[in-house]
Amino acid sequence: MSNTTASDWWRHGVVYQVYIRSFADGNGDGQGDIAGLRDRLDHLDRLGIDAVWINPWYASPLNDGGYDVADYRAINARFGTVDDASAFIEEAHARDIRVIADLVPNHTSSEHAWFVDALASQPGSPARERYIFRDGKGVDGSEPPSDWTSVFGGPAWTRVPDGQWYLHLFDPTQPDLNWENEEVRAEFDSIFRFWLDRGIDGFRIDVAHGMVKDTNFPDTGGRTMILQNDQTLQGHPHWDRDGVHEINRRWRAILDQYDDKMMVAEAWVHPQRLPLYLRSDEYHQSFNFELLETPWDAKEFRTVIDASVNAANEVGAPSTWVLSNHDVMRHATRYGLPNGTPWRKWPIDGPHEALDADLGAQRARAAALITLSLPGSTYVYQGEELGLPEVWDLPTDVLDDPVWERSAHTEKGRDGCRVPIPWSPDGPSLGFGEVASWLPQPDLFADLAASIQDGDPDSMLTLYQQAIALRSEHLVDDQSLEMLDLGADVLAYRRGTITVVANMGSDPVPLPDGTTLLASSAVDGELPADTAVWILGS
Ligand code: NOJ
Repeated sequence: MSNTTASDWWRHGVVYQVYIRSFADGNGDGQGDIAGLRDRLDHLDRLGIDAVWINPWYASPLNDGGYDVADYRAINARFGTVDDASAFIEEAHARDIRVIADLVPNHTSSEHAWFVDALASQPGSPARERYIFRDGKGVDGSEPPSDWTSVFGGPAWTRVPDGQWYLHLFDPTQPDLNWENEEVRAEFDSIFRFWLDRGIDGFRIDVAHGMVKDTNFPDTGGRTMILQNDQTLQGHPHWDRDGVHEINRRWRAILDQYDDKMMVAEAWVHPQRLPLYLRSDEYHQSFNFELLETPWDAKEFRTVIDASVNAANEVGAPSTWVLSNHDVMRHATRYGLPNGTPWRKWPIDGPHEALDADLGAQRARAAALITLSLPGSTYVYQGEELGLPEVWDLPTDVLDDPVWERSAHTEKGRDGCRVPIPWSPDGPSLGFGEVASWLPQPDLFADLAASIQDGDPDSMLTLYQQAIALRSEHLVDDQSLEMLDLGADVLAYRRGTITVVANMGSDPVPLPDGTTLLASSAVDGELPADTAVWILGS
């Protein structure tokens, strides 16, 4: 059990990300659900995490894995009911696990009652004003209002039968809401309260830097990237506009009316702009994706960690550490690729022969000891505690991510990190459920099943369990970090009584004195390549 105090758990908590559709299937339909999650609470408890963040669980056609919400006050029938959600929240709380919901304010599903109404209403009507409808350019309005492109590929505007166009920064089934409209703002105030009143402890806010648009809709000249800290994002017509801060403050004021709540921003903005989101009346924290973008290299890790820790200290908001999530290639695979491989858009016929899976697995163990020993909070994506790799060879006919279609089949998309969890080595979906899972699991998942790893002293699961327990004991009270110089290929820092040493080079290095509390691989007098240790009292 963690020793976090009630009021600051999020400052140094370990947050476990549940991609609910792929976590555990309790009702036998091949998709994960709340019943499955409740059945697996023991796994989370034994892992020792402080909170779970649940990817969107609302009513949705699941065109974008639930980030297309049809009703923010209803649970997707495949996942359960609002009562099931309340029961889960209660059971999690009984185990001292907080629950963070995922809120999607930038867009709804096209199946949301508001959008259905908008399509059935006249141009200029109040129903259309909740979204961003505009006339097109050109004599007959047949050209989109601007050159904006969707993050998933293709134009960000779709034309409706009466000739108007609506904006969707993501899939056409995800129309952007009009945040200039007070009705939209008031609706989200009410949605926040709905879930807070049901015991939710915090919110992960999707695309927190996207709600406000330049309503003159100037062309971007192709600058549409969301998933990179692009220097040119400053002054962009729809990313990171100053107006979002007013919305942030409005939400924070609601949270502050309750005890002990938090919100974390998914904001892909320039590092210099991030502190603005972390002012005391805005977000409690924002995802720091810098480490996730960093290749396996001691110097680069050192630079990113130093910059992140300094930035966190300056704004008084804890850093967050993330290695994997439902949008990126799993790090056990990323670290098995030569540095510089373009993993974010790994093409379907990518350099698979360049992958060294064992190396990736070894580094992933060391990476766990790095991220779980840094000051701030650490987010663990489901399955990383089992060492799951990316499933890069999913057959194309099962691909579900809209990226696959929107990229005209040039990018496979994100399904490879969303393959259901193997809980046991046998059965039609390796203990995930009673039937085959919605995405097929590769054979190699059987050996990585949780039941096999549980209790095995050398398993990844045991490493995570031990690291999280030792973190609570030694690394929570004192949040300082002092970088140490133990050689160019060595990342080393002191955290209170613990010294963390990671050998990111290819040759063994001497092991500092002290008692080895935890090691990512066997150490014997020296620290082998791609190995990290926690040392007490050096
Ligand atoms: C970010 C989410 O993490 C991603 O999965 C989703 O596709 C987009 N936002 C759109 O909501």
